Amino acid sequence: SASIQISPSILSADMANLARDLTRISNADLIHVDVMDGHFVPNLSYGTAIVKACKSATDIPLDVHLMVSNPDDTVDWYIDAGADLVTVHYEASTHLHRTVSHIKSRGCKAGVVLNPATPVDVLEDILDELDMVLLMSVNPGFGGQKFIPRTLDKLRRLRAMCVEHGVDPLIEIDGGVGAGNAGELGAAGATVLVAGSAVFGAEDPAQAVEDIRQAGTR
Ligand code: DX5
Ligand code: ZN
Repeated sequence: SASIQISPSILSADMANLARDLTRISNADLIHVDVMDGHFVPNLSYGTAIVKACKSATDIPLDVHLMVSNPDDTVDWYIDAGADLVTVHYEASTHLHRTVSHIKSRGCKAGVVLNPATPVDVLEDILDELDMVLLMSVNPGFGGQKFIPRTLDKLRRLRAMCVEHGVDPLIEIDGGVGAGNAGELGAAGATVLVAGSAVFGAEDPAQAVEDIRQAGTR
């Protein structure tokens, strides 16, 4: 069985020592970069400068999660800064098909994110175009929140929808993920797990990455 991929969120890293913290997760499969605009979500994080900084500090692909309003206006900034995969929120995008097509036309992988209250059914007419679907398992904006258990049922429905469509996008789960719930997430069909506080709050972040991967792999 293929092992689950781990995408540590640098939202919980020490931004004054970002390069050092990236060396502490050299076994990660992706680096999750949470961009928050203080408008779509009630918090402001960082933008292209941090994406560029990550790009110069690591060869691990960058998984850029845009929590911004009107992503069509700014998605090119993040691709230019070095994003390997960009996810945009369904709730923030007026012309989602255009945005996804544009990201892919730039040679970047494209994904769509759903907030906890958004049903997977809204993906019906875009699913076949996607490299990734990201299900939020907390309300976006902050690290260290509690996992919303209903996500598991949503994940199973998404997996069934992918089988029905004959597609196999990466399925990522973000928020409140750790070694304690990675097993049930892997079993329900997750292929990429984001973890912020569970990785950077650990004494040994690389060991935490390995523990979550082990727990999540079927
Ligand atoms: C929340 C972000 C998450 C966050 C996860 O809005 O999208 O990526 O960093 O943090 P933890 O793993 O601590 O819940
Ligand atoms: Zn995120």
